[in-house]
Amino acid sequence: MKTEILPSLLAADFGRLSDEILRAEASGAEALHLDVMDAHFVPNLSFGPDVVALAAKVAPRFYRNVHLMMTRPDLYLEAFAKAGAQTIQIHVEADCDIHAELKRIRSMGLKNAIVINPETPADRLYPYLDEIDEALVMTVHPGYGGQKLIPACIRKVAEVRGMLEREGLTAIVEVDGGVNEKTAPLCRDAGATVLVAGSAVYKAADIPARINELRG
Ligand code: DX5
Ligand code: ZN
Repeated sequence: MKTEILPSLLAADFGRLSDEILRAEASGAEALHLDVMDAHFVPNLSFGPDVVALAAKVAPRFYRNVHLMMTRPDLYLEAFAKAGAQTIQIHVEADCDIHAELKRIRSMGLKNAIVINPETPADRLYPYLDEIDEALVMTVHPGYGGQKLIPACIRKVAEVRGMLEREGLTAIVEVDGGVNEKTAPLCRDAGATVLVAGSAVYKAADIPARINELRG
């Protein structure tokens, strides 16, 4: 299966966001990953629905994968849907009814995903496996771009992939955090088919070449 690469806009130059969105689209990446941080679930703030709306305006055909690092994503689902999110990813550690919110994302006509933090065991995803389009395994502690991938998280990628296969389910396995040309092969070998990459993409001199390298 072809590996998909999702540049994270968090690593872009915020002084020229429109150009940075177009640069990622032109590089052949499959989708844009938009990292939303609430300064509560994670110790940082990033941006809100307006930046998702900007991406929808400047690059309407570039798929928008929206990662909500929020304690209460349930309060903002409509706002992100309205802004143009196409997949909405919520954390299993969030403080809301996860089953209900996964269902609500789908009822808005969007794809859903569940995300697990490095310290959360893979089996916390078990109750949701047949309700999701994607499982996103964090390979860094969320909150900041440019961190090093935590090697112990790779085993969890394989665990999640194994759980899905045993249940005969086809949800996508995605990884996020510290993905670069050295760590991408480990993620792919563990069964991830979608790789989020912020710094490795936006800091590259030749973005299309870097994307091909990450695809393997
Ligand atoms: C971490 C974010 C990631 C991050 C990835 O809180 O969810 O998407 O921006 O950035 P890199 O690839 O630089 O680790
Ligand atoms: Zn992310």
